Amino acid sequence: MIELSGITKTYARSAVKAVDGLSVTVRNGEIFGFLGPNGAGKTTTIKVITGVLRADEGQVRVDGVDMSADPLKAKRRIGYVTDNPELFARLKAAEYLNFVADVYGVDTATRQERVSRYSGLFNIKDVLNASIGSFSHGMKQKLLVTASLVHDPDNWVLDEPMVGLDPKAAFALKEIMRERVAAGKTVFFSTHVMEVAERLCDRLAIINKGKIVFTGTFAELKVLQGADGSLESLFLELVADGEEGKE
Ligand SMILES: Nc1ncnc2c1ncn2[C@@H]1O[C@H](COP(=O)(O)OP(=O)(O)OP(=O)(O)O)[C@@H](O)[C@H]1O
Ligand SMILES: [Mg+2]
Repeated sequence: MIELSGITKTYARSAVKAVDGLSVTVRNGEIFGFLGPNGAGKTTTIKVITGVLRADEGQVRVDGVDMSADPLKAKRRIGYVTDNPELFARLKAAEYLNFVADVYGVDTATRQERVSRYSGLFNIKDVLNASIGSFSHGMKQKLLVTASLVHDPDNWVLDEPMVGLDPKAAFALKEIMRERVAAGKTVFFSTHVMEVAERLCDRLAIINKGKIVFTGTFAELKVLQGADGSLESLFLELVADGEEGKE
């Protein structure tokens, strides 16, 4: 479970709040989608959840563990896939996976089993002895996804995970998401793509200019905005409201 309450974050070089008083709860056993236009604050929120950035105000709790009070314990409970798969280019993929497994204290047999399974699903098993620098963007992304699962985290947090994946990999990713929530774990991911979210998510939040403009199920979203019109247009309506007054 991931609980955010009153999260606010302003970057040092910026006057505007990237995230502004954001509260959201991701329950166990649900895939939670985080939608919003470019610059809405999705990545910033995800970095706060994963402890990469510290919020100016508010609290992050991961399975009840306060991120600022006990960051290591909170972070152990999270698997994080960034939107930027730039990794250590000189390392071999297998070395990177071993490094991650060491950090999380995963024993040899368990890490081998998990790496074998996920690298197999993502078709990178045969290239694990190549250097990461020789990987394509999508291959790096698949490696990052594999690495994020090495410690079998209860909370899986992914920033735009479908971007750059081929259809087979995207399918595998969705299957893994479903499998994890079926086991009572949590999946939280950001996306721009409404159709992906609609097919996959149990609940979603829509963020615009750092503020949540909707939280609920797709059924609730449709009721809120009227039954007519596509979800794409509902989304545009919701994020258009915050645009008023902008020069
Ligand atoms: N390192 C940074 N320094 C200063 N401002 C930043 C930084 N990163 C993000 N911002 C600002 O914070 C706001 C939110 O950005 P963020 O990256 O969280 O948005 P996003 O929803 O992930 O967008 P996208 O869909 O493009 O990935 C934007 O106004 C952006 O300009
Ligand atoms: Mg982003």
